[in-house]
Amino acid sequence: MFGPVLRGDHVTLRPADDSDPPRFVPWFADMEVTRYLGRRTAVALYYEVDTLKKFGESDNAVFWMIEADGETIGATGIHAIDWINAHATTGIVIGAKEHWRKGYATEAMRLRTRYAFRELNLHKLMTEVFVPNEASRRALEKNGYRTIGISREHFFTGGRWQDVWHGEVLREDWERAQTT
Ligand SMILES: CC(C)(COP(=O)(O)OP(=O)(O)OC[C@H]1O[C@@H](n2cnc3c(N)ncnc32)[C@H](O)[C@@H]1OP(=O)(O)O)[C@@H](O)C(=O)NCCC(=O)NCCS
Repeated sequence: MFGPVLRGDHVTLRPADDSDPPRFVPWFADMEVTRYLGRRTAVALYYEVDTLKKFGESDNAVFWMIEADGETIGATGIHAIDWINAHATTGIVIGAKEHWRKGYATEAMRLRTRYAFRELNLHKLMTEVFVPNEASRRALEKNGYRTIGISREHFFTGGRWQDVWHGEVLREDWERAQTT
């Protein structure tokens, strides 16, 4: 499924369209973008056409493109939704590196989290982050994700093993922090 348009102060989440598959080709050819995504190979256009089609057809994932400053800068999603137990995993990529460190991931996660709890009626969101990826963890923590634990030496990248942080946010904890 594709998520609906969600407008924040600086960031808009929108459903993917036919213009989007080519955007991922340069993003995923850049190892600075992929180093904390656990992927070490690039993608061809036909692969991304197929991937976005699968997201659109999936009944246990909700996928958005991220817009800011009048551009499409990345993508985010709620994945592996377990509708009975009401939990899911989340992920994000800001592929346009010139837009890093502007608070856009934090705001995209805020929109995504609100939609997951207030519209999808999910109970818990979970994610994993390579420990050196301080920006991702910080943005998640600002959206209520809390530490569950660390898997030691879980991924190999850049010539060394990386620990992985596991975080999750429960709806009742998130709701307590909301004013609207
Ligand atoms: C990780 C990523 C999503 C962060 O996006 P972003 O839009 O730059 O993040 P934000 O601007 O919202 O920053 C979030 C926080 O991290 C901090 N931060 C940003 N870059 C940082 C860095 N390189 N080192 C340490 N902290 C950093 C910000 O200052 C902010 O904290 P603050 O609000 O206390 O100042 C983005 O860099 C990205 O897509 N990277 C490639 C793919 C990836 O790693 N995805 C996540 C996989 S778990």
